[in-house]
Amino acid sequence: MDIMQSLPSALQTTYAPYPIVMERARGDQVWADDGAAYFDFYGGHCVASTGHSHPAVVQAIAAQAEKFLFYSTAGALKIREQAANALIEFAAGSGMRKVFFCNSGAEANENALKLALMLTGRKKWLCFDGGWHGRSLSCLAVTDDPSITAAYAASLLEVIRLPFNDMRALQSVDWSQIAGCIVEPIQSIAGIRVADSPWLDALHVFCKKNGTLLILDEIQTGVGRMGRPYAADHFALQPDIITSAKGLASGVPIGAMLMRESVAKQLKPADLGSTFGGGPLACAALLATLKVIENEQLMQRALAASERIRAICRGTVVRAVRGVGLLLGLCVPGKAAALKTHLFDQRIMVGGSHDTDVLRLMPPLNISDAAMDALAAALKTFGDQP
Ligand SMILES: Cc1ncc(COP(=O)(O)O)c(C=O)c1O
Repeated sequence: MDIMQSLPSALQTTYAPYPIVMERARGDQVWADDGAAYFDFYGGHCVASTGHSHPAVVQAIAAQAEKFLFYSTAGALKIREQAANALIEFAAGSGMRKVFFCNSGAEANENALKLALMLTGRKKWLCFDGGWHGRSLSCLAVTDDPSITAAYAASLLEVIRLPFNDMRALQSVDWSQIAGCIVEPIQSIAGIRVADSPWLDALHVFCKKNGTLLILDEIQTGVGRMGRPYAADHFALQPDIITSAKGLASGVPIGAMLMRESVAKQLKPADLGSTFGGGPLACAALLATLKVIENEQLMQRALAASERIRAICRGTVVRAVRGVGLLLGLCVPGKAAALKTHLFDQRIMVGGSHDTDVLRLMPPLNISDAAMDALAAALKTFGDQP
């Protein structure tokens, strides 16, 4: 802490950090450099799916680093094939058959959006109010967040943006122009806005009828967080492409674009590529993550924890809980910022959202009873202080 305060930092600021210096983390806890332990309901930004530094994931990473740290896709590697097969098996319920590995959520979306243009020969994307898809130029074009898009407005491809969950709006579109439609089944950053199932079904039908690729951005909803492998399973949807990242390798950077056979079979070998995508370290971490999710029944645990958190919130300052599984929004009209501060003072980290009345919870899927007990206690004492 001293060094960090006394030296001018060379690090460019991105988001406002929590007011602590983090030193280590394990499971659902993060320790500050003064020894204080915090329960992490923010999950390192929805990333720590199996908890921080799960021993099985750490062990898999260490063993892989020892054996073969890196080779690009110019070298065939068994671990990469194994990771792809395991992920496709995990996502089989939503009809995914092939995967392209990259390094982040934005990169997965970028590739999906780009493919839609190539495969349809059309020029426009369809997206939704409140959608958030990443910071590359294509992703910014479909993202509804003027604070990060406005500076580039003149350089972004023209898109069609419709109100989220609006059935009638789907009929107003000239679908013959639309290459791809990108949608978060639960808009997370917007404040946990859950798509209506009939609306998603209708969107899917419009896409299918008109030859538009349906891209489900599952960067926050995927990897077991909703109690099912992907939100597509929860909504019984079979999109053309699912994009995944965040918790997929428990914190090792990775992105994945999962595709139906009908999409993948149209691609030629050089259409996709990435030096680091599908690197052995990320693949080892992904394999270990999926094994932990299965062996420790983390999807079932996520659903049970979700129910417990909803129960904990009843009769407190929280007016409603939105979301599915462990992607939850606590609605606290007028008091979200104060509650976030209070929880932090009680050593509980949660996330904010673009809806200033909503706090987000996206903890590890194995969030402990102790963490939830602490949340219950902290909610009870909110407002007690003078
Ligand atoms: C829904 C969604 N899509 C895409 C992204 C971009 O992912 P990344 O930051 O890994 O590029 C994010 C990041 O928060 C996200 O929440």
